[in-house]
Amino acid sequence: MDRRDFMRSCGYACLSGIAVTTILQSCATTKIVSGSIDQSELVIDLADFEQVKKKQSSFRNYLIVRNDSLQFPLAIYRFSDTEYTALYLKCTHQGAELQVFGDKIQCPAHGSEFSNRGVVESGPATEKLREFAVRIDNKQLKISLV
Ligand code: FES
Repeated sequence: MDRRDFMRSCGYACLSGIAVTTILQSCATTKIVSGSIDQSELVIDLADFEQVKKKQSSFRNYLIVRNDSLQFPLAIYRFSDTEYTALYLKCTHQGAELQVFGDKIQCPAHGSEFSNRGVVESGPATEKLREFAVRIDNKQLKISLV
């Protein structure tokens, strides 16, 4: 093995390690909730974003909502105490279910990527993800499904 092959092998090994670590970290911190339906709104508790690690409390950046009334799950991103985004995890290219990896949303079908605001970062998808209106009411996040 010459120097170039050795450097290439080390590079691939390093990238693989980073990718696996990133995926494992995202899996470990992903919380899935079902929420409840109240008329035309899906309701989740804001407390679902709270987490305690090593006796330190903090907030999750996002969680996933899976509810039988939804064909696809939602990713709810928390940007601050008062700013949340609810994104429908249906790819705008050909409708595959999207996967969330931290602040990135990826499509396993053809590789489109979206930001945590639903904006396309790489195609073939060209349209932003569907976003639902949200409002905070008495320690609950209410997501309008209409
Ligand atoms: S269905 Fe998502 S990129 Fe094609």
